[in-house]
Amino acid sequence: MPELEVEGAGTFDVDEDRRLVLAIEEDAGVDIMHSCEGFARCSTCRVEFLEGDPEDMTQAELRMLEMRDLVGEARLSCQILVEHDMKVRVLMTVSETGANSPGGIPEEEVTPEPIYDERPY
Ligand code: FES
Repeated sequence: MPELEVEGAGTFDVDEDRRLVLAIEEDAGVDIMHSCEGFARCSTCRVEFLEGDPEDMTQAELRMLEMRDLVGEARLSCQILVEHDMKVRVLMTVSETGANSPGGIPEEEVTPEPIYDERPY
């Protein structure tokens, strides 16, 4: 079972292949944003990897990171499965942004249907 460390929240055992955004919200109890419900259209679920940055990246994630000039700076937690130990810093939370809600609940599976490439850095 992979370990997920969320800076400021602690370390948690997470079911393998759990969607990272859900592990952060439901397992670690951090109020991470996910305004587009996990469809790689908003970038509010962004995290910084301190350890364990996955080598692959969905095409949808890369497109969004390029649009926001975040390639190499952040990853979209809705596009990542917890396949190994990871340590992350959550960059946008409900409490810090003053948003009314985190957004709709993302599905258990990565959406849209993921097409993986190697990350470009
Ligand atoms: S990009 Fe919107 S929730 Fe991940």
